[in-house]
Formats: sequence, structure tokens, C-alpha cells
Amino acid sequence: MPDYGVVDREREKQVAADAAAELVRDGMAVGLGSGTTTEDLLPALARRRLSIRCVAAAPHIEREARQLGLIVDPFDSVDHLDIAIDGADQIADDGWLIKGGGAAHTREKIVAAAATEFVIIADSTKSVPALTPPVPVELMRFGLAATMRHLGPVTLRDVPPSPDGGVIADYRGDVGDPAALADRLSALPGLVGHGLFPPEMVTLVLIGRGETVERRNLRPASGQPENRPVLP
Ligand code: 5RP
Repeated sequence: MPDYGVVDREREKQVAADAAAELVRDGMAVGLGSGTTTEDLLPALARRRLSIRCVAAAPHIEREARQLGLIVDPFDSVDHLDIAIDGADQIADDGWLIKGGGAAHTREKIVAAAATEFVIIADSTKSVPALTPPVPVELMRFGLAATMRHLGPVTLRDVPPSPDGGVIADYRGDVGDPAALADRLSALPGLVGHGLFPPEMVTLVLIGRGETVERRNLRPASGQPENRPVLP
């Protein structure tokens, strides 16, 4: 067994992305998340020369995918995706995720929720025993100060607004009970989206470990059996 004492994150991201590209089949509608691991997915997907249509959670992913010859449709005319593939910032042992390091979590969650299968790709540094702060959030500019007061410990991120005009911030309070926190954040007026993704949303996690891929199956695919070509 080779000694992977120093994690080659780039290589691990690539092996996870390659494994995810292999799950895609001809005819599928594919959701693309964002982040560097998703960027590694794009050439692997393009190389397969499949007949697929994609939607993208971020404008730069849409551009990169098109440059590689992938067909990307606007996501206002596609009502269902067969599979969505995306990265993550933290993957806890209980299956909860934190996403939004790249500030695209609101759109990424919409893409994930539209898909029968939601597959996460990551290097091994993203695997954690339990989630830790911060949790990215997207807030409406209207009433921003009042929303932040209700939210609790939060810092504004020095990044441009989301493509939908949202203000990106990081919630820095306790994340010990992700389900309770997700409920509280979801119920807060002025909060457009948060980066907590529940295990029920995720079908499969692919984590690069050295040259191998660790597979964590979470929920069963939500589609009808004939629409479940992805997972064994
Ligand atoms: C962007 C995300 C990304 O998927 C997450 O930040 C992981 O990024 P990377 O693959 O670059 O490590 O949620 O909003």
C-alpha cells in the first residue's frame, strides 16, 4: 500500500470526479454544482462523449462546461434532473454536509433537490467526524441588518453578491444539532438559503482517498426503479 501521509488533494478530487463521471448515462439530464472538484468533473464528463443535457449552478461552470462541448440548458425550463453532482466543504460521519465555500449553496441546493440522484465528490480532507462552523448563508439585502440580528453570530463575506443578488455571509454559531439549526435558518425571513444539506438529500458520497474512491451510500434513489440507472 503506498504511503499517502501527505494528502494529494488535487489527485483525490480527480479520482472522485472521474468516478462520478462514470455514473452518468446517455440521455440523462445532469445537474452540475460548483467548486474546484466540480471543475475536475467537467473534462471527465466531456471525454465520455455522451448524449446528455446539463444545467449548472454557477455561471462560470456553465461557461466552462460549454467550452468543453457539453450542452447546458437554462434551469428555468428543466423540471427534473436524473443526477446532480457537486462538491462539499464538510461531510460529517452522520451524512450532514456543509456547502457554500464558493457562495453558490442556494442554487446548488435547488439543483440537488431537482435530481433523482445527488452525488457528492470530494477529497479526503472534507470528511469530518461532525460539522463545525461556519455555515454559509445567503441573505436578502432588504432588511439585512434586522436579518443578521435575528440570525445571531454572523459575518459578511467580502465577495460579490450571488447571481440572484443575495448577500453572502457565514453563520458562526453552534452547529452541534444540524437538523435544528437547518430548521431555524430555513424559517428565518430574509434568509434565502443556507449551506446545511441533510443526509436525506444525498444519494452517494464519493471521497477520493489516495488513488481509491470511498463510496458512502446514503439515501436510496428517489426515482422509479426504471429511472435508477446510476447506483447498483
Ligand atoms: C460552492 C460549494 C463547493 O461545492 C464547495 O465549496 C467545495 O468546493 P471545492 O470542490 O473547491 O473544494 O459548495 O458553493
